[in-house]
Amino acid sequence: MFAGLAANTNVQFVLAKRTPTGAATTGIVRKQTKVSSWSTNDAVKSSKRGGDDAWDATKYLNLWVCNLGQGLLGYAQFPGGSPATDGVVVLYSSLPGGTAKPYDKGRTATHEVGHWLNLRHIWGDASCGNDLVSDTPTQQTANYGCPAFPHVTCNNQGDMSMNYMDYTDDACMYMFSTGQASRMNALFAAGGARAGLVTSQGGVAPRMAATLGTTTDVAMYPNPANNVLNLTLPATKADKGWTVTVYDLRGREMKQATYNGQGQVQVAQLPKGLYQMTVSDGQQTLRQRFEKQ
Ligand code: ARG
Ligand code: ZN
Ligand code: CA
Repeated sequence: MFAGLAANTNVQFVLAKRTPTGAATTGIVRKQTKVSSWSTNDAVKSSKRGGDDAWDATKYLNLWVCNLGQGLLGYAQFPGGSPATDGVVVLYSSLPGGTAKPYDKGRTATHEVGHWLNLRHIWGDASCGNDLVSDTPTQQTANYGCPAFPHVTCNNQGDMSMNYMDYTDDACMYMFSTGQASRMNALFAAGGARAGLVTSQGGVAPRMAATLGTTTDVAMYPNPANNVLNLTLPATKADKGWTVTVYDLRGREMKQATYNGQGQVQVAQLPKGLYQMTVSDGQQTLRQRFEKQ
């Protein structure tokens, strides 16, 4: 019945590639702590209290993943609150592959980001309450589990219990409505509470010192090369190691491969000529030129 109201919100997030101070980042801060269980007191958002400080909330969505206690799956801050505590907190085991069945498919994060983007619970946190969205039917209270449709309350034609802003099982919630999408997107318009996210450079990698031709970071021999080009690459913390990509002088990609430490690039089948090679670990990109003989 609600298929026509299921909306593409057009809201997408990427992991940050630069920190608020301009350093390169994977977008993930792993912090060891002596605190074994957290509550809604926002301690997890504070380095002084064993958590980790928020990043500039006008440019980033802060998402703290931790061991919440008291059966709490997650909580969020609505727009307009203190920047120091802005963002979303979720129970680590609620993420996909986690153990918080039946809340183990990451829908808690979806639900909390809904709050962070100004959405209320679909029942309006009152009996037949108002969620300030007109296309979500008024419903009496929260639904749990996986309700059969229609579950009629408050003279509606059935609760929209499959909405992310209800309390149903993760497997049984799968839509935001058109009205909810508009309410969320209003925050990104000029003057909106989350407008800064749209122009944030947080998802853009900082420019790294690119070294051309003369670098000692990437050792390469022989050059010119006939069959095999040997590489010695610096240590990297990236778990996939280095990605080596070879381009011809017109910028066409010729080869790609990943390496850790020592690597050999097979160049036998490349046509004679000059090539450019980039070596990247996702954090920094090094460039080298070589000749195929
Ligand atoms: N109780 C939390 C809240 O109101 C999280 C609810 C998440 N529900 C779920 N089915 N994953 O924000
Ligand atoms: Zn909620
Ligand atoms: Ca409504």
